[in-house]
Order: sequence, then structure tokens, then C-alpha cells
Amino acid sequence: MALRITVIGTGYLGATHAACMAELGFEVLGLDIDPDKIAMLTAGRVPMYEPGLAELLVKHVPGHEGSSGRLRFTTSWEEVAEFGDVHFICVNTPQKAGEFAADMSHVDAALTALAPHLSRPALVVGKSTVPVGSAARLAERLAALAPAGEQVELAWNPEFLREGFAVGDTLHPDRLVVGVRSERAEELLREVYATPVAQGVPFVVTDFATAELVKAAANSFLATKISFINAMAEVCETAGADVVQLSKALSYDERIGGKFLNAGLGFGGGCLPKDIRAFMARAGELGADQALTFLREVDSINMRRRSRMVELAREQCGGGFLGRRVAVLGAAFKPNSDDIRDSPALNVAGQIQLQGAQVTVYDPKAMDNARKMFPALAYADSALEAAQGAHVVLHLTEWQEFREMDPEALGSVVSERRILDGRNVLDPVAWRAAGWTYRALGRPS
Ligand code: UDX
Repeated sequence: MALRITVIGTGYLGATHAACMAELGFEVLGLDIDPDKIAMLTAGRVPMYEPGLAELLVKHVPGHEGSSGRLRFTTSWEEVAEFGDVHFICVNTPQKAGEFAADMSHVDAALTALAPHLSRPALVVGKSTVPVGSAARLAERLAALAPAGEQVELAWNPEFLREGFAVGDTLHPDRLVVGVRSERAEELLREVYATPVAQGVPFVVTDFATAELVKAAANSFLATKISFINAMAEVCETAGADVVQLSKALSYDERIGGKFLNAGLGFGGGCLPKDIRAFMARAGELGADQALTFLREVDSINMRRRSRMVELAREQCGGGFLGRRVAVLGAAFKPNSDDIRDSPALNVAGQIQLQGAQVTVYDPKAMDNARKMFPALAYADSALEAAQGAHVVLHLTEWQEFREMDPEALGSVVSERRILDGRNVLDPVAWRAAGWTYRALGRPS
């Protein structure tokens, strides 16, 4: 009989994983402790903006025309334990308040709630991003709590999906990494991922600690690459050089590559910033803090980009923000997402407003989230409306809609034609030709 899969935690990672497992042909039961989320997903609606995910839900949740009926949701731990052969834990591990370390309380709570109901053979698979050593600790707890004893096992299978590409990244990942302690666990995971593996996706089998570290290392590398090019942007600014051309020239070297080499306002979101901090904290606990001191610098370079953007905006406003109108284009931490967690755009908007400017924000998808988190900022329904009477326009999240903006149309509503491109994607020639003062991070004025 085909494996039956459960997914615990139906946030970004869990909702996507559950829908993709159903797409791969498995019977899937998703669990969340939030009944509102379960009601929404059962109705085939996604609690966040993620291209392609709603379509996949409707395709598999029962009650929708032509649906496979393979994907259901519940809030019952008993039901999940009874149903599943493989249980994926997909709850979040946010940064602890006031500390660098990861908050493991959701993962711990999920395992503690599930384990006492596991009275038949099962594999519990952690997908959450956790400090190295967590899987070994959780395996002990599972063994102590599960009535089925040794017939219940743990594995670790980190997730590398990017928001905005979550469905594609889950169905066709760059690689699958599984940390296991037995052949049986490996075989079960090979069965779960048979389709992508048959399509050529590399399947890396390793121990718990290595699997946990692959995720921490991958995010650290990506963050470092972004901060490296942003450090070059700082040097370019002082030397009168152009970081966009520099990055392009570097990218032709195959050893370097062009991806994640876009200079600008730096990284944000629910993963990279908190994951590099949690990694530093964990290395400190293990006595390996010196190995990761460079990540402190990666973090500071990243945060400095936000201050530099505020400074440039102040300059463009004539040295002070009082009485000045500033339009901010973008609120999401990156395009194709409505996620505003640690959003560089909103951080800059907030700082500028605190310094006395009248700030109006527009984002194609993240307005509701932004309004809830930053109620003191003003919001507009379009880029044109946000730019009404602005002394400077800040382009801070590179939505396609902003890339396609007509400099003439925007110029007709602003008070002064000044634009700061925080993502280095607008064409300086076109904007300058339309009479705009165009400035960007790491490029000559
Ligand atoms: C990231 C990792 O890519 C993913 O593998 C991991 O599972 C979770 O964290 P995500 O947070 O969705 O995914 O966003 P990503 O596309 O990686 O972008 C992260 C941030 O870096 C964004 O704020 C983006 O604007 C910024 N970025 C990215 C740059 O500033 N420059 C670049 O060249 C690339």
C-alpha cells in the first residue's frame, strides 16, 4: 500500500510540502494547531501569497471540482498519528526575542504532542531549520514518548525552498538531503521522493548533524555572497566605480557565478537573517564561535545597507526629513511574496518616518501585512498615488511592476524628480533622460 503522509505545521513550508506530497500521488493529512488556518486550507485558500500554491490545493483538497481528494487537514493529533506512516515536522523556528539563538519551542511542542499517540510503526521527519544537535536530542525524546518504541524513528530532511518559488523548489529541488540512522529510514524517504529522484534530483544520505549543518551552511553561504557584493558596493561608492558592472564582470567566472550577486539593500525575510544568527549562537555553544565570526560581519554589512539608504534619502531631501514627502515602493522583503518579516524596505520606511518625513508606502501584495505591522506609516493603492507630491521616491523591493514604471508618468505627479534605486534594477539612462536625479547603492552619481 502506498505510504500515507502527514505534515505538521501548515505555514509556508508545511502548506507547500503537504500540497506537493499530494501532487506526487500520496494521501496526505496536514495538521495545524490554528483552526482558522485549517478551515482556510480546507476551503482551498492559502493564508499567504505564494504563486501556484492555491491551484495545487484546489487540485487535491476534497470538495473542489475534479479534485483528487488526496489532501485533507485536521487539528487532531490522534488522527494524524493513526493516519501516517511518515510524519513531516514543518513548524517554524523563529529567532528568540532579544537573543541570536533559534526558538525551538514549536518543534519541541510538536514532537511532544505527536509522540505519545504513535502506537504503530512510523518515521518522524524533521524539516524545520534547527541548531545542529537538535535531531539527536529529539530522537531520544521520541524514543522515550512513543508507545511503539523502536518501531518509531526520527530522520532529518532540511528544506531549501525559496518563497515565491516554493512549489517549484519542492517538486524539483536542487538536491534532497536526508540525515538517517537506519536503512529503513533511508528506504522510506527514498520511497517518498521516488519521483524527483527518478527525474535526476541528487539524493544525499548522511547523519543527523551533517544534514542539519547543510542547511545552516547553505544559508550562510548565500548571505555571505550577498554581503560580499554589498561590501564591494561600499568600496565602489567611495572609489566612483559601478558595482552593477563589477558584479556582471565577476559573474562570467564560473567559479563565482552571477546568482545572489545583486548589490542593493541586502537580505531580509524570515530565514537568512535569523538563520545566520542562530548558527553563530549554536557555534558559540559548541565552542566553535571563532569559525563563524565572519558571519557577524556579514550581518553588519547587511544592516549598514539600510542605514546608507536612509542617509542617501536624507541627502536627496536637502539634509533633513522634516516636512518632506517620501514615497516608498515595496514593502515585502523581496518580490513575489507578501512576507514582510525583517523587510529591508519597511525598516528603511520606518527609520525615515521616525526622522520626521511623511512616508507613503505601496506594494503590490504585502499591503495588508504591512498595515498590520506598521500602522503608523501611510499607504497608497498604487505607485502613482504613493508618489503624489514626493520629494524623493525610494525603490526598495524589485517587483516587476516597478521595473516597468514609466519615468514620465511618475514624474508628472512628484514634487521633485529624484529616485533612489535600492535594488539596482531600474535603467539609469532612461530615468535620467526623463529628467530624474537617479541614485543607487554602489553606483556613481
Ligand atoms: C532563503 C534561501 O534562498 C532558501 O534556500 C532558504 O530555504 C530560506 O531562505 P528566501 O528567504 O525565500 O529563501 O529568499 P531568497 O530568495 O533567498 O532571498 C533572500 C533575501 O536576499 C531577499 O531579501 C533578497 O532580496 C535578497 N537578495 C537575494 C539580495 O539582496 N541579493 C541577491 O543577489 C539575492
